[in-house]
Amino acid sequence: MRLTFLSTSGHLGGAEASLRDVLASLRQARPAWTLVLVAPRDGRLVREAQPLGVRTIILPFPPALARFGEHGFTSDGGLAVARLARAALATPWYVHRLRATLRAHRTDVIHANGLKAHLLAAAAKPRGAALVWHVHDYLQRRPVSARLMGRLVSRCDAILANSESVARDVRDVLGDRVPVSTMYNGVDLERFRANGPVVDLDALAGLPPAAAGVVRVGLVAVMARWKGHFLFLDALAAVPPETPVRGYVVGGPIYDTEASQCSLDELRARARALGLEGRVGFTGFVEAPEDAMRALDVVVHASTEPEPFGLVIAEAMACGRPVIASRAGGAAEIVEDGVDGLAFSPGDAGQLAGAIARLAADPDERRRLGDAAARSARRFDRRLLADTLVPLYEALRARR
Ligand code: GLC
Repeated sequence: MRLTFLSTSGHLGGAEASLRDVLASLRQARPAWTLVLVAPRDGRLVREAQPLGVRTIILPFPPALARFGEHGFTSDGGLAVARLARAALATPWYVHRLRATLRAHRTDVIHANGLKAHLLAAAAKPRGAALVWHVHDYLQRRPVSARLMGRLVSRCDAILANSESVARDVRDVLGDRVPVSTMYNGVDLERFRANGPVVDLDALAGLPPAAAGVVRVGLVAVMARWKGHFLFLDALAAVPPETPVRGYVVGGPIYDTEASQCSLDELRARARALGLEGRVGFTGFVEAPEDAMRALDVVVHASTEPEPFGLVIAEAMACGRPVIASRAGGAAEIVEDGVDGLAFSPGDAGQLAGAIARLAADPDERRRLGDAAARSARRFDRRLLADTLVPLYEALRARR
């Protein structure tokens, strides 16, 4: 079997971490298969794929295509259309090169990861190859990509969604011409485990060491605006000042697209305005999120829009940490409120503050939820991914 994976990014956001785990799972289950990864640039995804015995190829996006992201659309419509036009003009050349690469590797199945990858793979798919779209985002939130995917869906053979919630959205947008199935993301349970190395969050954030007994509560996320960084800060400001809590914003900007990220400077300014100096630290990007999660007593997920899956939630649960998650989308499929974590209504800073204060005051409850979370997270063992993928690829190849 010859598989080619096409990634929208070379960096390691959630969708790319998911792809890395797909590659690891397949490599373990099928050591003899040929796995090729095509990414637009070097980065952690590429570096982590190589030791798995994956052949990696960098095929740079033309700059207009690299910069194009959909999130700016509602705020600056005119500009976004101009950008889209430039991105579209730049694609034929890229598609031509991608098709040549797929042919050169005699690809049986193309596994496209990310919206741009879906479109480019559909356009470039050579005769004889099958195409899988692995969808990590709500299409209804990406109207331009969704419309283009609707036009190209007949070139796709199977669709994987990262949650039931995303699978429903995909069916709503694309109909039932192509089978859509759910495959939850995998987690490397050897890395994401309860006991292991920790990072010094205070040192990373440039804060003096927190006093003994201070409960560390952190938001671990890429800097996309909808991940709820501002909400987290608002919630921290609403936690009664006598509660011994220190907040951490763990993560830094990683994407190329414009207009969709907040900056650490903006967040620091908001923290100052809320009077949170010394009560919240900003670590920037951390290499090993598991070491940061283990350094936290509580991990917060605060997305203000429905979270397609929420890899960070599954990872933090695997680390045996109590999670407070925003109850919408795929995230609501992962955490059972009061059983293996806590949930709050998306966007409700008061509720989030209440949950933080409750866990800060109750170490037994933190332990109970953390232990239950670690047990629940076993279902995300990344080795299980191959059980879904191997039969899917084999069926697709047999149909050709
Ligand atoms: C995207 C989604 C996120 C999910 C990840 C992996 O980044 O926004 O919810 O966890 O993909 O599927």
